[in-house]
Amino acid sequence: MSHAKETILVTGGAGYIGSHTVLALLRAGYDVVILDNLEYGHREVVENVLKVPLIVGDINHRPTLDQLFASYNITAVMHFAAYIAVGESVKDPAKYYRNNVSGTLTLLEAMVAANVKRIVFASTCSIYGMPQQVPMTEEHPIGPINPYAMTKRIVEQMLSDFDRAYNLRSVVFRFFNASGANPEGLIGEDHNPETHLIPLVLFTALGKRDSISIWGTDYPTPDGTCLRDYIHVSDLANAYLLGLKYLSAGGKSEAFNLGNGNGFSVKQVIETASSITGKEIKVVECDRRVGDPPVLVGSSEKARNILSWYPQYPDISNIVLHAWQWHQKRHGSNK
Ligand SMILES: NC(=O)c1ccc[n+]([C@@H]2O[C@H](COP(=O)([O-])OP(=O)(O)OC[C@H]3O[C@@H](n4cnc5c(N)ncnc54)[C@H](O)[C@@H]3O)[C@@H](O)[C@H]2O)c1
Repeated sequence: MSHAKETILVTGGAGYIGSHTVLALLRAGYDVVILDNLEYGHREVVENVLKVPLIVGDINHRPTLDQLFASYNITAVMHFAAYIAVGESVKDPAKYYRNNVSGTLTLLEAMVAANVKRIVFASTCSIYGMPQQVPMTEEHPIGPINPYAMTKRIVEQMLSDFDRAYNLRSVVFRFFNASGANPEGLIGEDHNPETHLIPLVLFTALGKRDSISIWGTDYPTPDGTCLRDYIHVSDLANAYLLGLKYLSAGGKSEAFNLGNGNGFSVKQVIETASSITGKEIKVVECDRRVGDPPVLVGSSEKARNILSWYPQYPDISNIVLHAWQWHQKRHGSNK
């Protein structure tokens, strides 16, 4: 295959979505180098499962990047390294602008200097802000409502400017809620602190939490709880392969939503988890949180049309099942 000798740099490859993407790249015949400072990444995943070179370093450190590009024949970058906690970004925006914006700028400058001209970037649906219509397409107005989302929005702008000025082409993926785990149970989601609904529900099933809070039960949705678009992490990883191929074939810079197209309510997720785990999951109903839209569902028509991306695991049962298999293995059952 023509790409067999390509080496892809994956920043943040020891993290959740990055590690699943590395696995997909390896299975498609690419060579991979990971750059991760291991602040949130997992060395054991890289050493025991992925078994690719891990450079423990920071995207903010230009000499590390220059050395990396000089040592490996890197042809493209998949960029996941970032801080991801929305609440923390509100309390400490400087930290987010430094890592997510300034760090990415350093990475992009090093890429230009090394003549690496293709990047696939992990953006977020939260750059759209409060939904004005659903499902949201890429044409939806951009209006980030927190510093985390703003960092992604700024990077998208930088990428567009770098294309015009330096011919660095990009595929931007605006993820909805990444969830699930490798279907074979090899790797999964392991954030600390964990803020995502599905792992929190499963921690409750495992007895590691007493209960799960539902923030608002009086939304204008069928069961009164918020609807979100959960997309399987292996489907995201597959999109990365397609994005890379698209750029390799000369595709122009584009941004794509990656979502399931289906909304699932908080109650549906909890009921699914309860039936898959066979455990009763204690729920505490709380007031609405500020800033939570009732419905956040994306259209991935564009990714389907241009990249031929079709999610393999659109069903919430598979997403929860794979996550459950992983969490049981990672944290043990509560027998
Ligand atoms: N999880 C989601 O639902 C979701 C949704 C939308 C977008 N995203 C984006 O996807 C990307 C990956 O998210 P994730 O859930 O896998 O997070 P994660 O925390 O599991 O992975 C991020 C990785 O980047 C590393 N990292 C952070 N700053 C670094 C730096 N300066 N230098 C080197 N490494 C650094 C961390 O150690 C970690 O391994 C992020 O850019 C995030 O903004 C995630």
